Amino acid sequence: MSKIIVTGGCGYIGAHTSIALIAQGYQVVIFDDLSNASEESISRIEKITGTRPELCVVDLKDKNKTNTAFEAHKDASAVIHFAAYKAVKESVEQPLQYYENNLFSLINTLVAQQKFGIKNFIFSSSATVYGIPESCPVTENSPVKRPFSPYGNTKKIAEEILEDNSNSGFSTISLRYFNPIGAHKSGDIGELPNGVPNNLMPFITQTAAGIRKKLMIFGDDYPTKDGTAVRDYIHVMDLAEAHVVAVDRLIHKKQKENFEIYNLGTGTGYSVLEVIKAFETQNNLSLAYEITERREGDVPIVFASTELAAKKLGWRAKRDLNSMVKSAWNWEKNYRKENS
Ligand code: UFG
Repeated sequence: MSKIIVTGGCGYIGAHTSIALIAQGYQVVIFDDLSNASEESISRIEKITGTRPELCVVDLKDKNKTNTAFEAHKDASAVIHFAAYKAVKESVEQPLQYYENNLFSLINTLVAQQKFGIKNFIFSSSATVYGIPESCPVTENSPVKRPFSPYGNTKKIAEEILEDNSNSGFSTISLRYFNPIGAHKSGDIGELPNGVPNNLMPFITQTAAGIRKKLMIFGDDYPTKDGTAVRDYIHVMDLAEAHVVAVDRLIHKKQKENFEIYNLGTGTGYSVLEVIKAFETQNNLSLAYEITERREGDVPIVFASTELAAKKLGWRAKRDLNSMVKSAWNWEKNYRKENS
């Protein structure tokens, strides 16, 4: 049974990926500092999979502690690195915190891997590295631009570090996520942002649950069919399964280059209004919303070309928007019931 270290495994995407890894027979060890996620994720993963992953509470910004954690798990076959701060607006206000956390933790992880001979690495990157793309669908060869936010820039810089660090002895796959939403079908785990959500789907589900009064739609004057911005929403379980395929590719030495990059999206763009409509129809409810100003830094339209992932990884997203919006609401409802 290959052991996989999942940094940031208590967070939204990390926890869903841990579930998918366990389902495929991998042993998962989670490294998390619990700064933006809770240990409760471990119990939720156990409830769903029947297996409790080991949790190692470690701050990866601390080089010595990182080394100690890796030494205890030097038999691991690969690392999937999710641990990072991710709030775009906060990163504009506190850029150094983002550079410090996201880049020091990456470098300490890579140095520890080098020290203990763990040679496979999967990175949690983002479509934000494409900036405002010249055309859609965006392929992996589309130019990478300086992202609008320090958060986005940490992803771009991280990819440059990883490219330089990948050689015949070290293999990396960087996965550029589009917009992950939805939840595991059990409704026992899902997205749980701290405070007021920045992202569309948790804002929608919290509005439906009565926690927020209404949803603000940021702009209806974009050059799209209904004027609202278009994104490539991808079910978090599809995204999770793509990581399992990528792990398998590295462990079984199927990769062609030492550093590979793949878009993870569905290839279909939906507008904000289309997402709202799907949410309302599938869940049989109606949402209070209002159109407001554009949000600074937002991209009008972005969706992925998924051909490279299909061809090289043999992976395509399987779940549709209806399944995404239903599972997101199922989780929010369950969670609020549990905590009422
Ligand atoms: N939106 C609203 N109202 C809200 C929240 C969002 O109208 O309350 C709109 C946004 O303007 C955007 C769309 O919904 O058009 C999606 O917004 P999100 O904040 O959910 O996602 P973004 O596309 O802005 O950002 C996401 C990730 C980032 C990542 C980026 C890469 O959150 O981490 O994709 O493309 F960098």
